[in-house]
Amino acid sequence: MAVLSSRSVDPMKYNTSTQMDEQNSHASAKPEDEQSVSNISVQIVNAEEKLAKRIFARKNHGKSKSKKKVKRTTIWNFQNKIVLFTLILFVIGVITWTLLWLFIVEAENKDALYFVGLFRVANIEFLPEYRQKESREFLSVAQNVQQVMNLVYTTSAFSKFYKQSIVSDVSNNNNGGLLVHFWIVFVVPQAKGQMFCEDCVAAILKDSIQTSIINRTSVGSLQGLAVDMDSIVLSAGLRSDYSSTTGTGTNCIYDLYADRLHQHFPLDITATSGRMICYFKLIALVGHLIRLSIVSIQIEADNCITDSLTIYDSLMPIKSKILYRICEPTNSLMSFVSTNNLMLITFTSMQIQKWKEIHGYFEVITQEKCGNTILTKERTGFEGRILSPYYPSYYPPKCICTWNFQTPQKSLGIALKFHNYTISEKSLKGCERGWWRINEHMYCGYYIDHQTVFHIANSVVNIELQCSSKLSEQPLLVEYGSYDISQPCPAGYFQCSSGLCIRQAQHCDGVNDCFDESDELFCVMYKVNCNVSFSLQRSSLACDGIHDCEDGRDEQNCTKSIPCNNHTFQCRDNVCIKKQNAKCDGTVDCLDGSDESNCSCGSGKISNIYHRIVGGSDAQEGEWPWQVSLHFVGVAYCGASVISREWLLSAAHCFQGNRLSDPRTWTAHLGMRAQGNAKFVTPVRRIIVHEYYNNRNYDYDIALLQLSVPWPDTMKHVIQPICIPSLSHKVHSGEKCWITGWGQRQEANDQGSIILQKAEVEIVDQTLCHSTYGLITARMLCAGVMSGKKDGCKGDSGGPLSCRSQSDGKWFLTGIVSWGYGCGRPNFPGVYTRVSKFASWIHRYVPLVL
Ligand code: ARG
Repeated sequence: MAVLSSRSVDPMKYNTSTQMDEQNSHASAKPEDEQSVSNISVQIVNAEEKLAKRIFARKNHGKSKSKKKVKRTTIWNFQNKIVLFTLILFVIGVITWTLLWLFIVEAENKDALYFVGLFRVANIEFLPEYRQKESREFLSVAQNVQQVMNLVYTTSAFSKFYKQSIVSDVSNNNNGGLLVHFWIVFVVPQAKGQMFCEDCVAAILKDSIQTSIINRTSVGSLQGLAVDMDSIVLSAGLRSDYSSTTGTGTNCIYDLYADRLHQHFPLDITATSGRMICYFKLIALVGHLIRLSIVSIQIEADNCITDSLTIYDSLMPIKSKILYRICEPTNSLMSFVSTNNLMLITFTSMQIQKWKEIHGYFEVITQEKCGNTILTKERTGFEGRILSPYYPSYYPPKCICTWNFQTPQKSLGIALKFHNYTISEKSLKGCERGWWRINEHMYCGYYIDHQTVFHIANSVVNIELQCSSKLSEQPLLVEYGSYDISQPCPAGYFQCSSGLCIRQAQHCDGVNDCFDESDELFCVMYKVNCNVSFSLQRSSLACDGIHDCEDGRDEQNCTKSIPCNNHTFQCRDNVCIKKQNAKCDGTVDCLDGSDESNCSCGSGKISNIYHRIVGGSDAQEGEWPWQVSLHFVGVAYCGASVISREWLLSAAHCFQGNRLSDPRTWTAHLGMRAQGNAKFVTPVRRIIVHEYYNNRNYDYDIALLQLSVPWPDTMKHVIQPICIPSLSHKVHSGEKCWITGWGQRQEANDQGSIILQKAEVEIVDQTLCHSTYGLITARMLCAGVMSGKKDGCKGDSGGPLSCRSQSDGKWFLTGIVSWGYGCGRPNFPGVYTRVSKFASWIHRYVPLVL
């Protein structure tokens, strides 16, 4: 692989392509007068051709030598020659063997450990010469720092293992002084590798800094270097990054200096073959920030296993400085902002078989102060908006914004309408994705798929947002306005739990107008007694095949409401299409694809033998052909359901954590009744956890898994997909469904089951479940038996709640085992992910037609 070119658009303003090539080959040694950069276009081609040429050249060279004739002398008789030859052979053999032995012993027992980090040195001013790695100035400052580091680690507890420190970059930065990026290398016997934690290595450095309590500053002395304690960041690094960034591993490394505000500097990467790793170090004018915009990215979608684009808030690949990682192809614009005047972008591809392409640009932007003082109007209603820093970019992980609101009257409070976001009281656990302080109360923020309104019954409101996540976060938009404290929703309106106001008529009309279903909870009275408000509820209750009204009037005269006639088929979007074109003929005729959906799914054979997960009985061979057992590092850990040839549906909470979120740690066992006897086992290629999954309340507990190998046609008799219910698919309380899994058979016994267990459960009324648990969201549903006993338990998570459609006998994946209070306790039903809510999310990744 070789870097061939990088070109400029306007030779008047920017470097020419030859200049750029030269810079690149000198890995970042860029003279000061070549600071600006315009179009970075990297093309990666296969190096085989080049290599072949070189080898050919060498061979020829060798041949010409061999042609030279060697003079023969008489003392070189045949015998002497043999003796000498044997002697030479012997000596070579001994040397090789000794070297090999030494090498094997060394390599076998020792590991090199790499740590990468940075700190700010306050008492050295930046010199432009530092940008050239060969300059005297750079070498002298690097040596100085290296010596200090040598002293720190050779006098530490790790001295025996310390090998060296290398300063890889020295840059200016927005806090003054020098920002030094470095590597530390230890050579450690394998058994002792464990003790080298990131925190331990960082602690040695921090402990060596002498700070003065009197000065109350974070800057202390490290052997004469004024090091800012707060700036120290250190994490374990990769050998490949080490060798690349210290000058041996790759020639795809660029130092790009952006010295013009708001100008777009293109960043395009194209790779066609081979294996590659490229580093783009972006450095902006001091006192400014960098905004990177990714316009489109075509890479392999497999959780960053093959390809990844990583954006760092530093010049070296320091894990804890990652702003964002892109693992999926996308064509929608995303932008990210640094917290300093530097950024590193790395593009890694393990193997390039298909064309990979990244298009984007970066620009220098000024630092923004976020927050202000706002006096709201006397008129109630939303009147303005507050935004996350650098909106619409993802906002950086460190920020504090303060907004001070004042309403014109004591009777008016402040209403905040969060778009796709909600806040809820902070628990002891802390907030993963930023926190809010509103008039001394603390809240955590969560991303969701609808708006929420938060009312603060006070005329003076102080709001502080602290961005405290590890990564950059999605942009936030919040509308604000005054509201009448005595009447948060105007007359004739109903207030949802989410704070939204909806028209009174929408309350209990069977439609989820609040988005959180709070308008449809506790509506039992209305549903039973249709005399009172049948006209209101007509649309939602009528002609759905369920007798919602006591007198059954909702299901009378239903023929009229069917818009399509005998010769037509009704699509899900109510459009009629010709019957002969419809349903499972292999061509999509409905615009929404509904004529071809659910064509080859949901045909299971349920056994009539009723046996008795918790309170379950053994399932029959082939009875639940969509049931999957997910094994984490070889152990049965969660369940899943087959929904197509290569996709499974499971629960998001099964994949929380570094190792659990890595697809390479999982295998899927399909067509299995007894553990260990799967008809088809495949590794998992990709895990897609719902972006709004909330680990505090298990909201959006859903994940898609793509198999490395689709299950083959020959397995059809034992493996079958289950149907995905559409958004409009209703579940009715009392409906009987089945849960299946290899999870614990009792709450107290942590043994899983060998044979797949099944149990029949009942859909529990949402209102009743809400009154039991309190925190049931619109993405959840409850099922079980109120007397307890039959339930899912640990190990069943991600598995199916399968319900059979009365109309066509097909099985639908109504729920996914998610959580519950204990297992099988009376009055505490199991809680399941309501799959119908995710039909369009699923079809974003899984084609509708199987
Ligand atoms: N969270 C559990 C798991 O990881 C499943 C819990 C289901 N509990 C219940 N009572 N239904 O396996």
